[in-house]
Amino acid sequence: MLLPVDSLKLRAMKFMTLAPLKFFILVRLVTALPPLNSLEAEENGKRLFLENCAECHQADGQGMADVYPALDNNEVVTGSGIDVALVLIIGRGEMPSFSGSMSAEDMAAVINYIRNAWSNSGELIFAEAIESLQ
Ligand code: HEC
Repeated sequence: MLLPVDSLKLRAMKFMTLAPLKFFILVRLVTALPPLNSLEAEENGKRLFLENCAECHQADGQGMADVYPALDNNEVVTGSGIDVALVLIIGRGEMPSFSGSMSAEDMAAVINYIRNAWSNSGELIFAEAIESLQ
């Protein structure tokens, strides 16, 4: 279909004025999504917990009475992330040290998981802070 020149001009003008708006909406959509690697770290933390910790502390974080402390609603867990990192690095009582078997990144992921799983809520800790302890 042939369009009169004026109508083509009008279309072009409409496109030009809407382009920045479309770009703005796209940017807003992309930045509103949580960063992919933080989602990955969360998944990784849960997997690491189930593989390395749940046999004692249980998947629901409730532990076993008089044997393994509950990590849910536990002040040590939600207190300082550094203290939790030290428990993992040094080990405690019957709990083995994980410094030989887990990277600082994996430790950060599992610590961030237990600090924010179940009813817990705690600030995130980063691998750099854990590296500086070892
Ligand atoms: C072999 C069993 C076992 C495994 C596996 C284990 N723990 Fe523990 N954990 C314990 C025991 C037992 C204690 C209590 C030690 C003590 O106070 O004497 C403990 C204590 C803790 C504490 C301190 C809690 C408090 O109230 O003082 C944290 C935090 C913790 N474990 C996290 C983890 C994480 C995270 C993992 C996995 C990376 C893990 N544990 C793996 C047995 C285990």
